[in-house]
Amino acid sequence: MKPRIGVLTSGGDCPGLNAVLRGVALAADKLNLEVLGFLDGFEGLLPPGNFILLDRRTTSGIMPRGGTIIGTTNRGHFTAKVGAGDKAVVATEVIAEAKRVLKEHRVEALIIVGGDGSMTTALQLQEGGINCIGVPKTIDNDLEATAMTFGFDSAVAAVTDALDRLHTTATSHKRVMVLEVMGRHAGWIALHGGIAGGAHLILIPEIPFDYDKITDAIKMRDTRGSIYSLVVVAEGSRPADGQAVMRPVETGEFRFGGIGSVVAAEIAVRTGKETRCTVLGHLQRGGAPTTLDRILGTRFGVKAVKMIHERQFGSMVSYQNYQVRQVPIADAINRLRLVPVDGEMVQTARDVEISFGD
Ligand code: F6P
Repeated sequence: MKPRIGVLTSGGDCPGLNAVLRGVALAADKLNLEVLGFLDGFEGLLPPGNFILLDRRTTSGIMPRGGTIIGTTNRGHFTAKVGAGDKAVVATEVIAEAKRVLKEHRVEALIIVGGDGSMTTALQLQEGGINCIGVPKTIDNDLEATAMTFGFDSAVAAVTDALDRLHTTATSHKRVMVLEVMGRHAGWIALHGGIAGGAHLILIPEIPFDYDKITDAIKMRDTRGSIYSLVVVAEGSRPADGQAVMRPVETGEFRFGGIGSVVAAEIAVRTGKETRCTVLGHLQRGGAPTTLDRILGTRFGVKAVKMIHERQFGSMVSYQNYQVRQVPIADAINRLRLVPVDGEMVQTARDVEISFGD
């Protein structure tokens, strides 16, 4: 009987997860390990254990597919976080059940692919006696412990494509087009997508905006003869004298979303220009991964298996200085990587006449 390892994907999905799973399956096969893919995030660890075998056959051809072939969830019995800083403790009996299921199925170590909340859970499982390796995942790209995560590049590509499309219709109608994108606490998607897509204003959570400044920037473009404007708004952005916009979801929790239409309405009133809002939403999380995300996902999956082989439990894969390395999971959680407001990216954007509404 081959030794067994497990893998699960947890939290919001993103392009590149299947590249990780394929990387795990193939690297494990090389080490003569069998891989169980637990279904629907940590929920698959509940008795009697819900999983499929991940091998050459079941992972064949999955690289270009978005999402995750083993499913995911950002709620359930193992949820350790609801929002930034809201740490919750996973019940001891739930951890004990997961441990029992893993033992029954002879799983010696578990690879957890997820974001900050999932890593918080991973650490609690590790402390509860389950051998865990973390693989960071967030399209928001806001984990301090890794310079980059897969999924981000695909999300930025979706934003760039949306802006290219909005550009042509904006110029035809001489309109202001507002595009709301993901980014609850960090504006990386808005910043990168906005620069690549030629936006004229980019609003991010790190730089609270002022409606007067937004109006000035649009009117300035008008006086220069550019009578249309593209505005990218990260969902967590807020005016300097106001709050972020949240909306309730089915569970009764509140999620970011809606700032785009608030900004669009204000621009229309203040400039008198025809203004439209598009919310890109989950289009940023779906579809095929970019080349970069396929490669990064593969490297992360292979590295996670190597870390199991080296018994580096309690560690998370990390991308630093073009190398895939590892860091303790404990050092990775609760540390958001925000856009440096005086950094080179923001300055570059300002130098190509992008306004941050400040
Ligand atoms: O963290 C990733 C993210 O895509 C956020 O940018 C967004 O606010 C959130 O997930 C959406 O979550 P859900 O899938 O629950 O709508």
